[in-house]
Amino acid sequence: MDRNMALEFVRVTEAAALGASKWMGLGNDKAADQAAVDFMRKAFSSINFEGTVVIGEGERDEAPMLYIGEKIGKGNGPKLDIAIDPLEGTTLTAQGRPNAISVVAAAPHGHFLNAPDTYMKKIAVGPCAAGVIDINAPVKDNVRAVAKKLGRPVENLTVVVLDRPRHADIIKEVRELGARIYLIQDGDVAAAVATAFAEDSEVDMLLGIGGAPEGVLAAAALQCLGGDMQGQLKPRNEDEIRRAKEMGIKNMDKVFTMDELAKPDDIMFAATGVTNGTFLKGIRFITGGAITHSVVMRSKTGTVRYIQAHHKFAKKPVY
Ligand code: FBP
Repeated sequence: MDRNMALEFVRVTEAAALGASKWMGLGNDKAADQAAVDFMRKAFSSINFEGTVVIGEGERDEAPMLYIGEKIGKGNGPKLDIAIDPLEGTTLTAQGRPNAISVVAAAPHGHFLNAPDTYMKKIAVGPCAAGVIDINAPVKDNVRAVAKKLGRPVENLTVVVLDRPRHADIIKEVRELGARIYLIQDGDVAAAVATAFAEDSEVDMLLGIGGAPEGVLAAAALQCLGGDMQGQLKPRNEDEIRRAKEMGIKNMDKVFTMDELAKPDDIMFAATGVTNGTFLKGIRFITGGAITHSVVMRSKTGTVRYIQAHHKFAKKPVY
């Protein structure tokens, strides 16, 4: 993939984040998400590429824009598969809470798992703990293995977990072991990515069940950062099993490695902060414009770039 595409895609996450941020704290989840989708769709349409949405807002009948299979871009450049979450942390944005981001990952055709919109059990770590996780092993074994690889006592390890009743057992086991827990209300893509920025974020490991599309996006980011991840679909009903099968996943017990979630060789990942977060600042409105903070990375080179952009609304009315 042409490396300049990475900068093009940052414009897309910037646009979506700017759109969503106007709804910060206004209590309207739907409007915040819709604004992110509208702005992202518009930004994609100005880029010279032939994109296909593989992880998107849902299937065609439930998502008018950025649905799975939708063709995006100007249609006259490289052919790329696109995984998106225009607003990862819809409720966080609507409530004015931290860690909402806008996300895009891109890769040549066939690089991303075609994940249905169901749940996924996930385990993710940063680069220093890569190679020792096993999603089928007990929680305590994983925590001990990661602590050992990091050369730290378990008490000095922090596990990030979505605050959900379904995670009661995970939380109990981690606490019994004496490791620290960081509970988040939403946003497990940012949480998985944060494990690779442990010095800034203070979280070492993500455990628990979240969205499957978010699992693919997290894997794309961790491929660029050199982390490690495994995922296992957790469909909630027969309909989700049927959809998974239609998308080519026959065995619901299959453990997807990071390489199967997102193939390693040529991935680009971009994210822009909507609200302040552990590795990205949120949108700041200033007189006549706004400031955005984004990160863009490529798996080919491992380069991670932070981009602070100053947007002038008078010159760029799209915002
Ligand atoms: P959205 O902002 O897209 O709604 O996702 C937020 C999120 O917290 C994800 O980060 C996570 O994977 C998923 O929702 C968890 O699902 P649930 O809220 O149903 O537990």
